[in-house]
Amino acid sequence: MEKVKVEICCGTACYLLGSAKIMDIESALPEALRGRVEIEARPCLNLCERENLGGAPYVRINETEIVAKATLEGVMKRVTELLEGVS
Ligand code: FES
Repeated sequence: MEKVKVEICCGTACYLLGSAKIMDIESALPEALRGRVEIEARPCLNLCERENLGGAPYVRINETEIVAKATLEGVMKRVTELLEGVS
């Protein structure tokens, strides 16, 4: 995959539950992969209402894949898999 889009929810619930740490993903990735990740901070993705905040913080990858209870490590792992062609 050429490039991976990562939208990090920075709405109140997700922010309070740790999404700010996930914003460090670009510097945490190996240098060879850094330019291939497009990172966007987003306002509430309207996912927190569904599970009564249980799944926050949320990250959306490539417009369709939702990661609940996202962590920097988990998102990095998934992004690396996508960039290296492991699905
Ligand atoms: S605050 Fe993140 S989905 Fe609502």
